[in-house]
Amino acid sequence: MLDQNRIDLRSDTVTQPSPGMRRAMAEAIVGDDVLGDDPTVTKLEATVANLLGKEAAVFVPSGTMSNQIALYAIGQRGDEILCETGCHIVNYEAGAPAALAGLMIHLLDGKRGVLAPETIANNIRPIDIHCPKTTIVALENTNNRAGGTIYPLETIQAIEKVARDNNLWMHLDGARLWNAHVAANISLDKYAASFDSVSVCLSKGLGAPVGSLLLGDADFIQKARRTRKLFGGGMRQSGVLAEAGLYALENNLLRLAVDHTNAKNLATGMNRLDGITIDMESVETNIVIADIAPDLMTADQFQTGLEKANLHCFSIAPQRVRLVTHLDVTAEQCQKALEIIQKVASKN
Ligand SMILES: Cc1ncc(COP(=O)(O)O)c(C=O)c1O
Repeated sequence: MLDQNRIDLRSDTVTQPSPGMRRAMAEAIVGDDVLGDDPTVTKLEATVANLLGKEAAVFVPSGTMSNQIALYAIGQRGDEILCETGCHIVNYEAGAPAALAGLMIHLLDGKRGVLAPETIANNIRPIDIHCPKTTIVALENTNNRAGGTIYPLETIQAIEKVARDNNLWMHLDGARLWNAHVAANISLDKYAASFDSVSVCLSKGLGAPVGSLLLGDADFIQKARRTRKLFGGGMRQSGVLAEAGLYALENNLLRLAVDHTNAKNLATGMNRLDGITIDMESVETNIVIADIAPDLMTADQFQTGLEKANLHCFSIAPQRVRLVTHLDVTAEQCQKALEIIQKVASKN
């Protein structure tokens, strides 16, 4: 039995499949997808490819695998990938770019997770036998660690120009591209157009239990299918999971706007409290990053204080916590969360 009093703001990955989603999953028509026989997986891949304006897609178990398949399929050992300092690919994927693809990582500082085109241009290695080859630019939209921030489309397009001029592959970690699309009212295909490969997740704000898709042209996706097999990610009757994804796209995409409003209200309330500071400009979607003043308490103490009242968040740095809104928290629960935070923050 789920604890009805629990308010879980640790991540948008904690959602439970709804009764409607579970019913759809139970009724999914399935086949062996490794043999190309699962019509529901094929339908999901075609649906998402169409939404993002890409030729093809492959359904994979996780966002991590999706990103890493792209890097492995494109990069050669010793090549260098350019990405932003806080990106998921480097910070939260267990060292996979080095361990699997043998890539060098060149971290670049951005503003709220967004890299300037000049920063990319200034950090491409010269063609010289002494240097690693810069081959891939990987962007993240929305940016998780910066607080769900959105990449401005013009910035993406300017980065793409630099990448094209220098023959670099453009990869997008779009785990939460859905949130950017809904918040900025920019179509998914417009965002995706600047990239050679795009990864999107169904298991974050959309509320599906499992699954991501990697998209690109047909040749790339053929390579990606082979790499998925190599990584042990070929799934058999995965239409059960794909059906959840189709259900999520139909029912849970536009409602992300509710999560964004909840996050903004929560952040506004928290920012008014003594000892808590939030960069309100970073609260563009469903993630709230809050700094706790050292003289109030540490982030771990803050997290523990909330847990005692059955409110859950993540401490992500000594003085920093993260709270994420999603389809399993209502506006009323966010209001309740704010009251709990107020009490915890006024204790010292
Ligand atoms: C930006 C971003 N990329 C990739 C991932 C990886 O997804 P998964 O947990 O499905 O491996 C996450 C997970 O939270 C994420 O936030």
